[in-house]
Amino acid sequence: MSVGLFTFGIATPPLFMSSTEHALRERIKELKCIYELSRIGASAPDLATVLKKTLKILPASMQFPRRAVARIKAGDEEYGSADFNRTDARISSPIVIGKKKYGSVSVGYVKQGKAPTPAFLTEERKLLQVVSRELSFIIQRHQAEEEKQRLKLQLQHVERLAFVGELTAGIAHELNEPLGRILGFAQLIRKGGPLNAQQEADMERILKASLYTREIIKKLMIFSRQMPPQISAVNLNETVSNILYFMDAPYFSGNIRITKKLDPDLPVIRADAVQISQVLVNLLTNAIHAMPDGGDVLISTSHRNGFVTLTVKDNGVGMTPEVKEKIFEPFFTTKPVGQGTGLGLSVVDGIVSAHGGRINVTSAPGKGSRFEVMIPVRTYNRKSKTS
Ligand SMILES: Nc1ncnc2c1ncn2[C@@H]1O[C@H](COP(=O)(O)OP(=O)(O)OP(=O)(O)O)[C@@H](O)[C@H]1O
Ligand SMILES: [Mg+2]
Repeated sequence: MSVGLFTFGIATPPLFMSSTEHALRERIKELKCIYELSRIGASAPDLATVLKKTLKILPASMQFPRRAVARIKAGDEEYGSADFNRTDARISSPIVIGKKKYGSVSVGYVKQGKAPTPAFLTEERKLLQVVSRELSFIIQRHQAEEEKQRLKLQLQHVERLAFVGELTAGIAHELNEPLGRILGFAQLIRKGGPLNAQQEADMERILKASLYTREIIKKLMIFSRQMPPQISAVNLNETVSNILYFMDAPYFSGNIRITKKLDPDLPVIRADAVQISQVLVNLLTNAIHAMPDGGDVLISTSHRNGFVTLTVKDNGVGMTPEVKEKIFEPFFTTKPVGQGTGLGLSVVDGIVSAHGGRINVTSAPGKGSRFEVMIPVRTYNRKSKTS
């Protein structure tokens, strides 16, 4: 740092040191800081480490390293020691990303009794600008890396789903035919002549098991999009009322209270009525299963920004973030064997995607879950005009 800029005698070089020597030392400190920063940027595993390490090296490059403390703000994060609040002289430089202020780098001198507050040099301000610029490059690099990683994971997920979808479609197709025969022949035997009580009971079991398997195959086919939607005008409010009317009475007994809050001005959507009912049944069933000791379910409809929304909210057991992440994966279930196939939400996801919609889920363990299904109104209306 150049000697000429030392202000008010505070940065006067120590008596034993020539001013040139002092300036040289300051300059070396500054270069060391920039060099260290580039090393940190290249080697630190994550952004938090970069920022924490930068905090450590920054004060050393100031005129009065022992009194200097630094603070870095980046996005929602803030790094710095509590001493920063005890500083009475500060300089700051913004971290800019894509023309927007993303954060800032600040350095301050901590108050020391009656000792005069040192003034910052132009060189120190410039150094801070270099540091904040360098940090913005590093942050952008990390963000690009994170985005790349996210896209890679998303792609892997899509590929896995596509693979499972293909496999599922194949299995469902192959099983459908023999299953049809099992059902057909079982019914023929029944019609063919009187069976003894044991045979009748066994036949009943065969038929029940076959029908159960047929339901699973149907779910698999919906999930793997082997059943294209049969589009007609659907009023979600009617769907809700019908399902609540027809759903098994045991659901409404016990301590489960189901409330509906329907938007009276809900626009009609063009959708597959059966599949939309399936979405509600699956969400409602899950909500009820999540409340083994009873609770409240709120089913509501609304519309906004060209979307109609169906929300199913329960105050049941809720989900951990780890479970929540996997719920749309086919065959993922936390229920005991025989009580859940893990296909309910995969089917919901398949149906909603086929309708051009999306699902938002919020959940917290012990607090309950909220599933919000949004289906576009206009897309389907427009499609219907051209078709
Ligand atoms: N409302 C909810 N509250 C808490 N957990 C839920 C809720 N809905 C879904 N889950 C979790 O997501 C998992 C997957 O749900 P999904 O409906 O796909 O399968 P399932 O209910 O286990 O079985 P299936 O629906 O095929 O009978 C559930 O096992 C459960 O752990
Ligand atoms: Mg389910």
